[in-house]
Amino acid sequence: MKFNTKTIHGGQQHDPAYGAVMPPIYQTSTYAQSTPGGHKGYEYSRTHNPTRNALENALASIENGKHGLAFGSGLAAIDAVIKLLEPGDEVISTNDLYGGSYRLFTGIFKKFGIKFHFVGMENASNIETYVNENTKLIWVETPTNPMMNIIDIKAVSAVAKKHNIILAVDNTFATPYLQQPLDLGADIVMHSATKYIGGHSDLVMGALIVRDDALAERLYYIQNASGAVCGPQDSFLALRGIKTLHIRMQRHSENGRAVAEYLDNHPKIEKVYWPGFENHPNHDVAKAQMNDFGGMVSFVTKGNNYDEAIKIVENLKIFTLAESLGGVESLAGHPASMTHASIPKEEREKTGVVDSLIRLSVGIEDEGDLIADLEQAIG
Ligand SMILES: Cc1ncc(COP(=O)(O)O)c(C=O)c1O
Repeated sequence: MKFNTKTIHGGQQHDPAYGAVMPPIYQTSTYAQSTPGGHKGYEYSRTHNPTRNALENALASIENGKHGLAFGSGLAAIDAVIKLLEPGDEVISTNDLYGGSYRLFTGIFKKFGIKFHFVGMENASNIETYVNENTKLIWVETPTNPMMNIIDIKAVSAVAKKHNIILAVDNTFATPYLQQPLDLGADIVMHSATKYIGGHSDLVMGALIVRDDALAERLYYIQNASGAVCGPQDSFLALRGIKTLHIRMQRHSENGRAVAEYLDNHPKIEKVYWPGFENHPNHDVAKAQMNDFGGMVSFVTKGNNYDEAIKIVENLKIFTLAESLGGVESLAGHPASMTHASIPKEEREKTGVVDSLIRLSVGIEDEGDLIADLEQAIG
């Protein structure tokens, strides 16, 4: 099955009870048993739920994986991955990453004795410097949030394999439409399914996808034991979102390109971060590992003025000033004061998250309307 068919049919079967084409929302916590242990495969909805399972099968299919696991948020999914580790273990993570991931690593897991190294991975050989016998996980976000750096997944996977380290890739920005990390050597793919997977800004959800049976078993154990699962209603919505992922991503990418090119020619804009530009430092890697460049675009204004950036995001009318990304509607954010406020200013500026940085999640509205909105807001 090709990707555009998998989004609609992958891992799915008609509901065995009545043949419903869409899996029903099994809004139940528990399941009747005829005798203790005599059930139809479902005992309790933290452990298994048919609607969630339908979603998990769809996730596995679109990421070319074998096992999918759905969680109550993206951070709950990341939390499950870190719980594979033990005190004394070390993680090497990209240095430019979602602020909430950084907060989870440093604010929660550090105190349980797990050590995190935040490393620029544009050159995969940098990673080797931090590898020792305690290194158990490499955490990669690509494209990175919000600087749109591109990490060569194949090259990082070669390092991970050489040292027998698990490689996890946060594929939230790219989605499997643009990039399939398991095919490039990753062991775990993670999503904030809140974003493009759901696609309609109406749910909060996380996902993990793996191929290896033993690794899946360990993650299922954590999913059930820690219990951060998503509910059946949200599972249904995410499943419905996946069915249009390919056409949404195609339009996000087209509009993303148009907006990036418009901003790049704007006299008040200092720099635009978008991996589709030939002069983007990792454009060749992006071209090799991605099918297109998506709808995320970041930019800084000339003079790097905090107040001016705030004024621009406040002036926007079609772009909504809001946290999050990946929905059909265009959103704008100011990372320094919003998504990345949990990263200390000094740390954040080292990676380019300066005061005037604005991040756009370009939606699937009319391209001309989006550009006109930016025009009136930037002035
Ligand atoms: C790249 C990335 N990873 C992880 C997360 C966390 O996901 P959630 O908000 O669903 O917990 C986000 C949220 O913005 C994100 O952008």
